Amino acid sequence: MCGIVGYIGNKQAYPVMIKGLHRLEYRGYDSAGVAMINDDGELNVYKKKGKVTELENFAKVQDISGTIGIGHTRWATHGEPNDVNSHPHYSQSGDLVMIHNGIIENYASLKEGLIKRGHTFRTQTDTEVLIHLIEDIKKSESMKTGHAVLAALNKVIGAYAIVVLDKNDPNTLIAAKKGSPMVIGIGDDEFFIASDASPIVEYTKNVVYLEDEQVAIVRRGEEVKLRTIKDKEIPLYVHELEMELEAIEKGGYEHFMLKEIYEQPRSVKDSMRGRLNAAEGKVQLGGIVDHLGKFKNAKRIMIIACGTSWHAGLVAEYIFEEYARIPVEVEYASEFRYRNPIIYPDDVVIAISQSGETADTLAAIELAKSKGATIIGVCNVVGSSIPRASHAGSYTHAGPEIGVASTKAFTAQVTVLTLMALHVAHAKGTIAESRYRQLLYELESIPNKIEEVLKQNDLIKEIANIYKDARNALYLGRGYTFPVALEGALKLKEISYIHAEGYPAAEMKHGPIALIDEEMPVFVIATKGLNYEKVVSNIQEVKARKGKIIAVVTHGDKDVKGMADHVIEIPETDESLVPLVSVIPWQLLSYHIAVMRGCNVDQPRNLAKSVTVE
Ligand code: G6P
Repeated sequence: MCGIVGYIGNKQAYPVMIKGLHRLEYRGYDSAGVAMINDDGELNVYKKKGKVTELENFAKVQDISGTIGIGHTRWATHGEPNDVNSHPHYSQSGDLVMIHNGIIENYASLKEGLIKRGHTFRTQTDTEVLIHLIEDIKKSESMKTGHAVLAALNKVIGAYAIVVLDKNDPNTLIAAKKGSPMVIGIGDDEFFIASDASPIVEYTKNVVYLEDEQVAIVRRGEEVKLRTIKDKEIPLYVHELEMELEAIEKGGYEHFMLKEIYEQPRSVKDSMRGRLNAAEGKVQLGGIVDHLGKFKNAKRIMIIACGTSWHAGLVAEYIFEEYARIPVEVEYASEFRYRNPIIYPDDVVIAISQSGETADTLAAIELAKSKGATIIGVCNVVGSSIPRASHAGSYTHAGPEIGVASTKAFTAQVTVLTLMALHVAHAKGTIAESRYRQLLYELESIPNKIEEVLKQNDLIKEIANIYKDARNALYLGRGYTFPVALEGALKLKEISYIHAEGYPAAEMKHGPIALIDEEMPVFVIATKGLNYEKVVSNIQEVKARKGKIIAVVTHGDKDVKGMADHVIEIPETDESLVPLVSVIPWQLLSYHIAVMRGCNVDQPRNLAKSVTVE
């Protein structure tokens, strides 16, 4: 986590960096800091605990001039979030400052060696150790050419995206990365460095994605130079950004989360664009076409992901097993990599990630790759680490997701995974042509159906008002809607801090039923389908214990309406596609509850959007 920015050029660095830090705040907001060198060669460093606005309030009466600078927004790992532990961190002499995203795992032993060589430390952070080490090495290696930095990085175990600024050289920034993301924007006589492209897009569309163990030497008025930490020169490969500025602004909505919920008719359509032609019975997934054989021969699919992406993986499990008839295992990336999983070379591993940067998912991919499995990435952020580490894959094309609680990324993931499963099933011949076509047509209609659900916003807001003070909540679903129950509960706890659990409806009687009383709202998906009657029985079990039922039902439903306290009707769709439509009410509900409780919806406490630490 943590967001980093750097600027060198003709503009004042501070405004560019502050704007950039606001855009990167989704990566962490425990503290923020900046460092600039002014025209008199003075290094000014300001850091403040709390959000970027705290820093701004403090810095407005300080000297913030200078055309070179670095900035940071922190998600604390080592050392509590306070002013001192905030980045940038100083070297021993105070001449070098550095910002860092990642974790230096061997910082303790490095620190010990540095203390023996006379270094003293001001903070408890791992970052400070690295900048001291760089200064130590600077005695014998050049800073300007990046060699002092690359020599230090050879001693480091862990993950980093760093930018170093040297007070004695106001024309150079040295950046490097391993494990954590970093993008360099190339403008006219100016350069931007950031954790992702959002701070860069309004200035230039030309970017360079730094690869692991690469060091960039960014000098005023010169071309960016790249070296590996083993000192091999690397040619510069400039990409053109596809992102538009509007995509990362709120566009009139009060919060990014609400904007992103409302974007779903479009984002789901975008995730299918050029890939689905129901009339011709065609699915085209260019990214995996060369690996279709692997899917066809796979005896097993393993899905690895974290958080909401893991829930999308659970939906995919149902679809792949039902239609492609391939056994699927869905694993938390963090668990998968820390046991000794059995992975066969003919396994297909699907890694799902919105950010494409989640450290545990990346590490799990490397593990599966080392055992010879084929890795298929399903990611949203183009050019991020997971797609680059995968053999093949499909982007979800949901557009930038900025609210920390994932919404449109989930529906786009489920859409792409559904297309993938149907594509494989059709290629394998495990789905009847008529059923295949029926599902393709139905998938095409999903954006309109989501649009219909969004029209229920006022009703959902009223329901939110009734249950906003609940202390606990239970979410139930069965079959395809069980993952939606998990996702609904996650959304509520993430942003409103109400304890919530998602459960398979039938499992309720093996434990959670003991919690039910008149205080307990139970959010159930009871749409028409295979398990409908069974879910209706589960609802009755709750009602018999005076629990409150808030049910998502198929339009026109009568049975549940008669017994539930509130119903939210959604358009009828195929059972396999119900997750795409039924998740919307739970997204809106948690959004409204969180707003009513005065919570920071887009930046919930302790969370970060991109979890680049293990
Ligand atoms: C964090 C985010 C979640 C996200 C999870 C996995 O916890 O707050 O919204 O689902 O990471 O992230 P990924 O980018 O891999 O989907």
